[in-house]
Amino acid sequence: MKITIIGAGNVGASCASLLAQKDIVKKIVLLDIREKFSEGKSLDISQMLSIMESNTEIIGSNNYYKSKNSEIIIITCGVPRKPGMSRDDLINTNAEIISFVTKKSIFLSPKAKFIIVSNPLDVMAYVSYMTAKIDSSRIIGMAGILDSTRYRFFLSKKINVSPIDIQSLLLGGHGDTMVPLYRYTSVSGIPIKEFLSEEENDIIIDKTKKGGEEIVNLLGTSAWMAPSASVVKIVESILKDSKRIFSCSAFLTGQYGLKNLFLGVPVILGKSGIEKIVELRLNQKENNLLKKSADHVLNMISKLDKFD
Ligand code: APR
Repeated sequence: MKITIIGAGNVGASCASLLAQKDIVKKIVLLDIREKFSEGKSLDISQMLSIMESNTEIIGSNNYYKSKNSEIIIITCGVPRKPGMSRDDLINTNAEIISFVTKKSIFLSPKAKFIIVSNPLDVMAYVSYMTAKIDSSRIIGMAGILDSTRYRFFLSKKINVSPIDIQSLLLGGHGDTMVPLYRYTSVSGIPIKEFLSEEENDIIIDKTKKGGEEIVNLLGTSAWMAPSASVVKIVESILKDSKRIFSCSAFLTGQYGLKNLFLGVPVILGKSGIEKIVELRLNQKENNLLKKSADHVLNMISKLDKFD
């Protein structure tokens, strides 16, 4: 079984590395516009794998034919944020790239599922969907798992428990308009309200919203380790058909009273991609926040230049 990762930069190469270490894929193709770069990255990762005891083969190339008949295509190419930029500032530069690479890869892998990582995430998932013209269950935007792992990290520090024991779901767009679900957060089944108030939780949510920006300011470019680990979770759930529930950016067709956009919602992930969108009963406050988040994404979509 073959998986193609488009973009051999920080996120793409880390996805290849983490995925290869799991030894669950026969072949990974790492594609980049920079030919030698993807070859170099692939060689370096390949030479690590005997130590990590994995048999995964990795090929670096700029030739799309190498991706033919991939089961999953992971799109990480494009431009990352620099300090002072929001994810939304990348919109038209990345839309053109995402549209181009989607068209190239769907032609060669007509049955593939797509995992979109490039930002602004919810809009790039939409661009890929409009270009690929395939069932929306096969286009999955990676954002909620990342936002959730950042939240679990900050929360674990605040209440002094293991982040592994924290269960959480965040809805909405990947960015400032993410929607916290205090009522659905727990620690080993214990409701979070036993550990901290909603007001204290709001401070953690604020840190989570700024989590990506904090790293951009420290590194001068956007994060890659937590994003690539989040991608691997999605890949594993699809390959193992494990029906795990994660918050992913999915195309809405009326769920939560919203349609014609990608937005973070809980989904069941299995071998066919998004097998179900889980609809939670939100209260008025949560609904209003989700609507605001949707309006932001729709506004961004309206700013898209015409893409091919
Ligand atoms: N086809 C293939 N690869 C491309 C193309 C293209 N048309 N255009 C750019 N690339 C490649 C670049 O050559 C580079 O290697 O995409 C890669 C991007 O890597 P980085 O600059 O390291 O960016 P990264 O940190 O990996 O982020 C990529 O993921 O998390 C998001 O916001 C982030 O949108 C950004 C994306």
